[in-house]
Amino acid sequence: AATRTFSIIKPDATRRNLTGAITKKLEDAGLRVVASKRIHMTRDQAEGFYAVHKERPFYNDLCAFMTSGPVVVQVLEGENAVLRNREVMGATNPADAAEGTIRKEFAESIEANSVHGSDSDENAKIEIDFFFKPEEIVG
Ligand code: CMP
Repeated sequence: AATRTFSIIKPDATRRNLTGAITKKLEDAGLRVVASKRIHMTRDQAEGFYAVHKERPFYNDLCAFMTSGPVVVQVLEGENAVLRNREVMGATNPADAAEGTIRKEFAESIEANSVHGSDSDENAKIEIDFFFKPEEIVG
């Protein structure tokens, strides 16, 4: 059955006008965009969204980066959506990302790595609920 995952097109990518190119890669991987909005995250939103990383040395820089420009938050639907999305994103660090992945093609650094994707079905639900009301998702 189809499942859902949560995706963010990050400020480094929106700045370079890559929203369409990245969305095309997601769609070509078999994922369907069932919700999408362009927002400028507040500091509170970034800190809340990344709260699991609060103790990490990169947390402050990450929150500053994620509020440095617009992002596009999306809900993606497809067979094994979390896994498919992770495959097409590639490794967190673009230096480790496989050929053909979004991060290999577009990411600038481990921080400015163009996209976020949920790492589990459980977190996908939490992350979708963080940014979307049920009626904003049209399957
Ligand atoms: P993301 O999937 O959005 O989840 C946490 C983010 O922290 C990650 O992608 C990276 O963009 C960012 N980040 C910055 N530095 C690091 C690091 N050293 N290790 C892991 N993630 C990092």
